[in-house]
Amino acid sequence: MIKNTRTLGEFIIKHQLAFPYSTGELSNLINGIRLAAKVVGHEVNKAGLVDILGSYGETNIQGENQQKLDVFANEKFIQALDNREIVCGIASEEEEDFIALNSSDKKNNNKYVVLIDPLDGSSNIDVNVSVGTIFSIYRRISPIGSPVQLEDFLQPGKNQVAAGYVVYGTSTMIVYTTGDGVNGFTLNPAIGSFYLSHPNIKFPKKGNIYSVNEGNYVHFPEGVKKYIKYCQKEEEDRPYTARYIGSMVSDFHRNMLKGGIYLYPNSEISRDGKLRLLYECNPMAFLAEQAGGKATDGKIRIMDIEPKELHQRVPFYCGSIEMLEKLEEFISIENNN
Ligand code: AHG
Ligand code: MN
Ligand code: MN
Repeated sequence: MIKNTRTLGEFIIKHQLAFPYSTGELSNLINGIRLAAKVVGHEVNKAGLVDILGSYGETNIQGENQQKLDVFANEKFIQALDNREIVCGIASEEEEDFIALNSSDKKNNNKYVVLIDPLDGSSNIDVNVSVGTIFSIYRRISPIGSPVQLEDFLQPGKNQVAAGYVVYGTSTMIVYTTGDGVNGFTLNPAIGSFYLSHPNIKFPKKGNIYSVNEGNYVHFPEGVKKYIKYCQKEEEDRPYTARYIGSMVSDFHRNMLKGGIYLYPNSEISRDGKLRLLYECNPMAFLAEQAGGKATDGKIRIMDIEPKELHQRVPFYCGSIEMLEKLEEFISIENNN
């Protein structure tokens, strides 16, 4: 039996009507993402049956091995957004440069740009572990009618107008925000519709989960090492539970629902960490804050960072507010030593 009867489509319309001057373009954009999510979700679900598992045989701009599903998801999201004539440009983890859309002469009357990680956690595809898609939406800065520019993509996260993710897990879900709280929708695969299953999601102020790739522990900054030891100490409500899937979308989703902290620090082996500011950290930071959580690079609020490059990496700490504050205490003590 379906408990929640409001579909994502109805939710989008209701929220659009709440803004008297809304042109419906953002709603249409989210609809494009909803469609691509279904197509990609369908492919992910049957991935073991068809010849779509495994490596595509090329490396992307980050030097990472592209999986076939990375390439498939990238194509589907770009197609879905291109068809709607709302978006003037897309930047993707899988593309070296941004793509100017919808115009042969590269001029463009559309006002939004989208940044995406089409398939997050792709090392998990071959082993039937949940993966995701992350998206981030901005209004362009350059004038409408002119070619889209790099500066349209290099905006701080605080300028985002919407952001979200799709998680292809035991069920497929879309979770997103337009700056008015966070809502989650679960796909009923029999009908092909997303239903509002998680209205107004809130990060618990504190949780008992810490999520970090501890294999890199020896390379972490001292403050982070000490925080991890704090998480493991038998005292008060600790030790915390360690949970790390290796798909940031899934790790974030669990932590937001249950309470927890996600850490991807800089280290001796990756000076700026691993995760990409524009299409991994900023959208998650926007969701985290909208749900009452927090996201920083250890010192600075993620959404205040002025981006310099499309594929820029940053250390990323995100989750329940009180856990983030504790981590920052450890980091600042080490920095002042
Ligand atoms: P992607 O598959 O888009 O390249 O992202 C992978 C990211 C993220 O999803 C995950 O949390 C992290 O990489 C895992 O990294 P480690 O394997 O270094 O822990
Ligand atoms: Mn990713
Ligand atoms: Mn990816």
